Amino acid sequence: MKQIAIIGASSGIGLKVAEEFAAMGWHVAAAARRKEPLKQLKERFPDNVVYETIDVTADDAVERFYRLIERNNGIDIVLIASGTGFTNPTLELSKEVTTLNTNVVGFARIASAAYRYFASTRNNAPGRIAAITSVAGTKGIGVAAAYSASKRFQRTYLDALEQLANRRGDNIRFTDIRPGFIRTPLLDPEKDYPLIMSEEYAVPMIVHAILSGKRVATIDWRWRVINALWSTIPTRAWVKMPIGL
Ligand SMILES: NC(=O)c1ccc[n+]([C@@H]2O[C@H](COP(=O)([O-])OP(=O)(O)OC[C@H]3O[C@@H](n4cnc5c(N)ncnc54)[C@H](OP(=O)(O)O)[C@@H]3O)[C@@H](O)[C@H]2O)c1
Repeated sequence: MKQIAIIGASSGIGLKVAEEFAAMGWHVAAAARRKEPLKQLKERFPDNVVYETIDVTADDAVERFYRLIERNNGIDIVLIASGTGFTNPTLELSKEVTTLNTNVVGFARIASAAYRYFASTRNNAPGRIAAITSVAGTKGIGVAAAYSASKRFQRTYLDALEQLANRRGDNIRFTDIRPGFIRTPLLDPEKDYPLIMSEEYAVPMIVHAILSGKRVATIDWRWRVINALWSTIPTRAWVKMPIGL
């Protein structure tokens, strides 16, 4: 039986991925801050879901994460789907700080804990660290400065862990999933977003990327094209472009 831990499994992409893996018969170790949606997930899949409330910004997050792994009798894959973000053109400080605490500090807390788990407790059996980063990590986006920078951090952190694993001979693989807009509670329900995707459309591609062990998966092909174009734009030109909502 395969085992996956999903952090950020109470809503949006993480919840949907958790449902898909649970429906395939995987053991799913689900975590987020809110207990009620995790409890409901467990009620739908009583035999193969365990859960734990974890706030990735809190000091006890790693202890709780390891407890969750133990209750699941181990894991083969960790998916970090916890995250937050705001359109914040006025650079409201609390939004910037919340985004960085969750997507940078909280992300590193869980990704490094997952690395240590895979490297030290499994006799070098293969492990995978997957994360939902974003196309927003390709360039700095003025109306979402902390968010886009935090997504860049996540990508770089995964690259760094991969280099570390190669250097140390740790049997850990990495999957960086970079979606464009997906209609989830993260987005403003009143707003129109370009090329927005439904969860029903995007999540099967995310699940496929994890199962097939892709290193980088941009969701979907239209965002892959846009993102490839973005990367070719020199920064001096990019900073003059009115990108963002
Ligand atoms: N939706 C999009 O358009 C889109 C596009 C590209 C990338 N992404 C990324 O995809 C990831 C998932 O976002 P989503 O769209 O599915 O949004 P969402 O529905 O708001 O889900 C976010 C998840 O993260 C959890 N979370 C937030 N802060 C947390 C914390 N401090 N500790 C633990 N868990 C926390 C939330 O659970 P609790 O509130 O219960 O803690 C929730 O389960 C994020 O990293 C986001 O940046 C989203």
